[in-house]
Amino acid sequence: MGIRLLGAGMYLPEKVVTNEDFTKIVDTSDEWITKRTGIKRRHISQGEYTWSMGLKAAKNAISNAKIDLLEIDMIIVTTISADFAYPSMSNVIQGKLGAKNAFGIDICCACAGFVYGLDMAQRYIDTDSNIKTVLVISSENVTKTVDYTDRSTCVLFGDGAGAVVVTKSENQAYSYLGADGTGAELLYSHLYPANNGFTDENVALENAKAFPNETGRYMYMDGQEVYKFAVNAMPDAMEKACEKAGIRPNDLDYIIPHQANIRIIETAVKRMNVDIDKVFVNIQETGNISSACIPVCLTQLVEQGKVKSGDKVGMVGFGAGLIYGAIVLTV
Ligand code: ACO
Repeated sequence: MGIRLLGAGMYLPEKVVTNEDFTKIVDTSDEWITKRTGIKRRHISQGEYTWSMGLKAAKNAISNAKIDLLEIDMIIVTTISADFAYPSMSNVIQGKLGAKNAFGIDICCACAGFVYGLDMAQRYIDTDSNIKTVLVISSENVTKTVDYTDRSTCVLFGDGAGAVVVTKSENQAYSYLGADGTGAELLYSHLYPANNGFTDENVALENAKAFPNETGRYMYMDGQEVYKFAVNAMPDAMEKACEKAGIRPNDLDYIIPHQANIRIIETAVKRMNVDIDKVFVNIQETGNISSACIPVCLTQLVEQGKVKSGDKVGMVGFGAGLIYGAIVLTV
């Protein structure tokens, strides 16, 4: 058994920050950002929480799916920018929505989160006859993890959320998920330090050596190494997911890659041997919104009438972990 899309939805905060706006706070230019990344604008939360953006995207998806809230059996939230260490975002959103029949799970799979969320939704639907309808929400407030004095990271990210409602179907979604945890120290942001009343500074210092680039509570990223990983990992994952589906990447009707950098997308697409007009790109308007990129693209693809029932859409992501994954979904 598999899954099919009942509805997709999204939410982007109202505040739009242009490349020109960044020239007022860091030493950069519209030309550098556009040429090196493809980004022109991004939506930025002005204090709105991750759960609130996720809730708005979820309501939009539920309305488009035309289902009753009480039909939702499970909520999966993907995020790297949760509001709380606990409770989970899925529990907070379940409560705010009033989806009383659903249980929730959060997953932290960086920018590949939505692919992992869809994969998980299918596995629950496939193995538990009580689970028929799953709400997958990817909500991200990445900008709160970014240092706005660091020009090499702050220009790249935006905020927002995307969501889908999926249900049981005969069409299986085929996925390939992978990780290279030896690259964990290439991209990270700290949560709480491991301090308590009995902390041994020597133990803490020894542990801290594993992640030696001190950026406080902000993101550390080795952009060039992540770039090299991405241009190989994305085609690799997409090809392996397609192989399971018995097709080639160019047989897909649409491909939605993670929107981190237009140069990464172009190189990966070339390596996949895919017609560029099958690739959905909105990076110029949103920047990198981590796991929310793919469901926001999917929502726009549906809204623009570019996919019809029965079309095959390939989605592929990569990110901190280092993590990667692809899924082929029949919509
Ligand atoms: N404006 C102007 N100059 C800049 C800026 C900026 N915003 N940022 C960096 N520069 C400068 C650098 O200081 C450097 O200057 P130097 O040559 O004098 O030292 C020069 O530009 C080149 O810097 P590079 O880092 O070599 O630039 P590169 O072409 O590699 O682009 C980028 C950097 C955009 C970060 C690229 O490496 C990239 O996209 N990497 C992948 C990032 C990514 O995909 N991350 C995923 C995160 S998702 C997640 O999991 C959270």
